[in-house]
Amino acid sequence: MPRRDERELLVGLDIGTSKCVAVIGQVMPEGGVEVVGEASAPNRGVNRGDVVNIDATVQSIRRAVENAEQMAGCRAQSVHVGMSGTHLQSRNSTGVAPVRGREVTQKDVESVIDAARAVLIPADQRILHVIPQEYMVDGRDGIHEPVGMFGVRLEARVHMISGSESAQLNIRKCVESCDLTLDRLIVPHLAASEAVLLPEEKTLGVCMVDLGAGTADIAVFRGGAVRHTAVLALGGNLVTNDISVAFRTPHQFAEEIKIAYGCALPEMVAASDVIEVRGVGDGPARQLSRHTLAEVIKPRYEEIFRFLRKELQRSETYEMVAGGGVVLTGGASAMPGVQELAEAVFEVPVRIGLPQNIRGLNDLARDPGYATAVGLLLHGHRAAPRSIAGQERHPSYWVRRIKEWVAGNF
Ligand SMILES: Nc1ncnc2c1ncn2[C@@H]1O[C@H](COP(=O)(O)OP(=O)(O)OP(=O)(O)O)[C@@H](O)[C@H]1O
Ligand SMILES: [Mg+2]
Repeated sequence: MPRRDERELLVGLDIGTSKCVAVIGQVMPEGGVEVVGEASAPNRGVNRGDVVNIDATVQSIRRAVENAEQMAGCRAQSVHVGMSGTHLQSRNSTGVAPVRGREVTQKDVESVIDAARAVLIPADQRILHVIPQEYMVDGRDGIHEPVGMFGVRLEARVHMISGSESAQLNIRKCVESCDLTLDRLIVPHLAASEAVLLPEEKTLGVCMVDLGAGTADIAVFRGGAVRHTAVLALGGNLVTNDISVAFRTPHQFAEEIKIAYGCALPEMVAASDVIEVRGVGDGPARQLSRHTLAEVIKPRYEEIFRFLRKELQRSETYEMVAGGGVVLTGGASAMPGVQELAEAVFEVPVRIGLPQNIRGLNDLARDPGYATAVGLLLHGHRAAPRSIAGQERHPSYWVRRIKEWVAGNF
């Protein structure tokens, strides 16, 4: 029987449209989490956040998790999984409950949350998150911790997120096919917010945008609580498609050109800067200026940001983010010039959010595409710090330990 690891480990698994990311974190005795293993693998089984091919998704999860396990020297057993998709729905709701004694107890809080979640949702949807925004005791509002207060009537305002039951079952099936247990299903906007936002921003008012390959997941915070969340079918794949069509080059080359030479602001690149573009099939390669490439990229990013601004206005949360502005994260926010362009469209301060609040690997911290996976670890740790008491050790751990022992003795 494999030995169990004495370290307390958590595993975050982000199942994205372009790639699966697995991050293994060690819970430190003094608090906090340190990343001890991470890996990603391309994923062809997800479209706009939704699983459309189980086998391809299973393969991608397996590769990411196995490589992360090797790096951490352990075997993952249970995982905190990120799931997106345009099937996710959100709503704000309120509930009322009587205070049974004279002081509010934890039981009263549970009752009022139950009352708030008792709203009609479509038959195919299942609730994923019920997040308290604030409580009111006898009409006094702005209360975050009501337990112990005197009163007779307790009210709660909550933000609820639900998702299609079949989408949740598909994710569970993919995870379990890799011999992993699904610990918790978490939406990526909440996870990424945990990794990139500062507490002051959440208080002031901020909109976090996780701009991935297939979806833009947004979460608005104000007064320290979630006010609005949404998933829009907008992402980096649209930019790649534009490049592919404009320069008649296959999608894969368009993606490579975009990442190596792309810029969202044509004025940031010189027209004399020339790159080579491969044609379709045996067609000859052509020369292309980076300025022309940027002229194709800019309108698409501009359109994405305009849609996101409209979503904030539609949900009446645009005014809420005036203080903290917009924090962009996700792989598609890594494009040079994106921050400046977003600022011009949103007309509020914009910054690029990199994963933080975590120790460990440095490369990871520099990649906004890892924000969700890191956030899954942090969310899992905060929600249930001792949910996974150890994972099995990977055989590579013992090979490495023996090598270290031999090296140390000779
Ligand atoms: N340096 C870069 N410059 C521009 N775009 C980039 C860069 N790096 C990654 N991207 C783009 O980011 C997107 C992938 O981001 P991310 O890994 O956050 O998506 P995902 O989680 O797989 O997808 P989703 O969240 O939509 O399900 C792709 O469209 C990719 O082209
Ligand atoms: Mg993502």
